[in-house]
Amino acid sequence: MGWVLKKTIVMVGMMGAGKTSVGKAVAAQLGVAFRDSDAEIEAAANMSVADIFARDGEPFFRERETRVIRRLLEEEPCVLSTGGGAFLSARNRQMITDKGVSVWLNADLEVLWNRVRHRDTRPLLRTANPFATLSGLFEARVPIYAQADLSVISEAGCSVNDMGARVVRALE
Ligand code: S3P
Repeated sequence: MGWVLKKTIVMVGMMGAGKTSVGKAVAAQLGVAFRDSDAEIEAAANMSVADIFARDGEPFFRERETRVIRRLLEEEPCVLSTGGGAFLSARNRQMITDKGVSVWLNADLEVLWNRVRHRDTRPLLRTANPFATLSGLFEARVPIYAQADLSVISEAGCSVNDMGARVVRALE
């Protein structure tokens, strides 16, 4: 019999940390399915996350996010990338900790900013000073991400596959 993943690996961390791209690499390296909570929410609503925020507001999005994560954690173990805000709610953290293994992709502010600055897909960064906003979120969130089961440093020069391999090693 082959090797079996017992718990879902849940990627957490700031926007721009690489949760989706590294999560896909981890899933490929382990030979398991990859899921993404933002993508699931978008597919179900047939709308982008930015449009959901604009039309229905953040609390509505957060409800959807909790529901999607709860459902995915009930399914076959896989690699699950979550949106940057998902791990902040105590209720989500509890669910993730009970049913999965959380991995914080820990990138510094400069790396994050360089990755998100040219993309207009993040509703939370649609402010007069997106860097100040990102920096404020970073300060507030890092202590919460640090509660994840594992932490892997996401470096600027490290390829997605190398990052995936680092995560796989951390899981061993
Ligand atoms: C959010 C991050 C986004 C998305 C939404 C809110 C956040 O996901 O869920 O815009 O609160 O940090 P990514 O981390 O994949 O960008």
